[in-house]
Amino acid sequence: MSSTTADRLKEFPSARWFIISAAMFFVITTFVGLLVATKFVWPEFMGTAKWLTFGRMRPMHVNGVIFGWLLAADMGVIFYLVPKLCGTGLWSEKLGLFTVVLFDTIILCAIFTTSLGITQGLEYAELPFVLDVGVTLAWVLFGLNVFMTIAKRKHKKIYVSLWYTMGAIIWTAIVYITGNFAVMFFTGVNQANLNWFYVHNAVGLIFTPLGIAIAYYFIPKAANAPLYSHKLSMIGFWSISFVYVWTGAHHMIHGPISQWLQTVSIIFSALLIIPVWTVVVNFFGTVSGRWDQVRRDPVLKYLMAGTTFYLLTCFQGPMQALRSVNAITSKTDWVVGHAHMALFGGFSFFVIAGTLYAVPLMVRRPLYSVKLGNHAFWFMLTGGLIYFFSLWTGGFIQGLQWNDASIPFVNTVISMQPYWVARLVAGTLIFTGAVVYLYNLSRTFWGPDTEEAPATETASVVQRG
Ligand code: HEM
Repeated sequence: MSSTTADRLKEFPSARWFIISAAMFFVITTFVGLLVATKFVWPEFMGTAKWLTFGRMRPMHVNGVIFGWLLAADMGVIFYLVPKLCGTGLWSEKLGLFTVVLFDTIILCAIFTTSLGITQGLEYAELPFVLDVGVTLAWVLFGLNVFMTIAKRKHKKIYVSLWYTMGAIIWTAIVYITGNFAVMFFTGVNQANLNWFYVHNAVGLIFTPLGIAIAYYFIPKAANAPLYSHKLSMIGFWSISFVYVWTGAHHMIHGPISQWLQTVSIIFSALLIIPVWTVVVNFFGTVSGRWDQVRRDPVLKYLMAGTTFYLLTCFQGPMQALRSVNAITSKTDWVVGHAHMALFGGFSFFVIAGTLYAVPLMVRRPLYSVKLGNHAFWFMLTGGLIYFFSLWTGGFIQGLQWNDASIPFVNTVISMQPYWVARLVAGTLIFTGAVVYLYNLSRTFWGPDTEEAPATETASVVQRG
């Protein structure tokens, strides 16, 4: 039986608007990243207009992708999976819609403030005070909606995705307030210490638990298999909550902070292996024996590639924290490769999978095109791999050169050129993938009602419940 667009677009309005606006910001802000990458290859590119300089476009890209894309997409998918796991509707869709409008307004304002050069001057915390207050308010409203939904749940059991979601909401509040407000009361090394606490935990206690919550929900669903081990999932949750918070200082190894703090951060970085191992074993264990499904289904492709990148990121992290390795890799382009693997290859892949699975169910029609879903995946995967490997190689060589006092600094910049060209090619592929992904989602939302589901490879993808 066919339903009209108006009928279909009644369910999960807050989740839908978060997801579609995030997908738009994904395209816009990766395009900004592409422009920044072009500047590395042709420094005169885009002239000397102030708002088009590296110093303004870089924070626009970084804040745009992490907040406008990744966090917003996570919030959208969480607004879908929490009600599903609780067997009830979202506590307040009106509040949810208000949160979307508030959050997206902040992101639009942030695009202007970064282009005007208005900044707090701290990594990942460039947004001005008033926008920080807005983000905090939006987060409180988001958290309230999620916690109230969980409070009125029909299913007694709390599935691991809900644990990670609740953890992420509390940790994000602490991490964001520390990095954007408390940090202003300190100066010098103490301020740097708080800033790195924020930067590292933005990844470890915001995007990691949200990404894992999403993957824990969608991997068993998409593979149509029970979770490999609930016990393991709980060990992972509690260990991440104890271990992660100590690792931020590993960004200042060989820096002016005390040796004991450096050693503590190194030890806890190594201990991260525990939560990571539990998650990865659980994810691969769940899909084990169902690899033919991965071949057909873009959702599982994103989830499994994301798991692999998560594992690699968390293998690199403890290694980079070792004093000997850190002396080579720290502050080089290696770290940029590492950051993109975590936030793009890991957590963006998880949330893209979540949207490709959930959106068709929200709008009660199949994904517009599974073929396009697969194409977007291959663009992003190929681009991602070229991006990561070129910057790891280039960054490692850069670090070795920096350690050799006989090499003038300018020569170390010149020797990065081939790797930056490769990054530009990679960025073009990733951007193309993002456009295809947005097109596919938009057609799924708003394609004509008469449009037939593409009758390709996809029975399993089309008939999800
Ligand atoms: C077209 C794709 C992309 C390109 C070409 C690109 C390019 C860049 C460039 C040139 C920088 C500045 C690096 C520097 O200062 O040396 C950067 C930084 C950054 N980008 Fe991207 N980016 C892309 C996609 C993404 C995505 C999808 C995410 C996350 C979801 C992301 C997250 C970041 C982060 C977190 C940083 C800061 C890295 C650091 O300082 O360690 N980027 N990107």
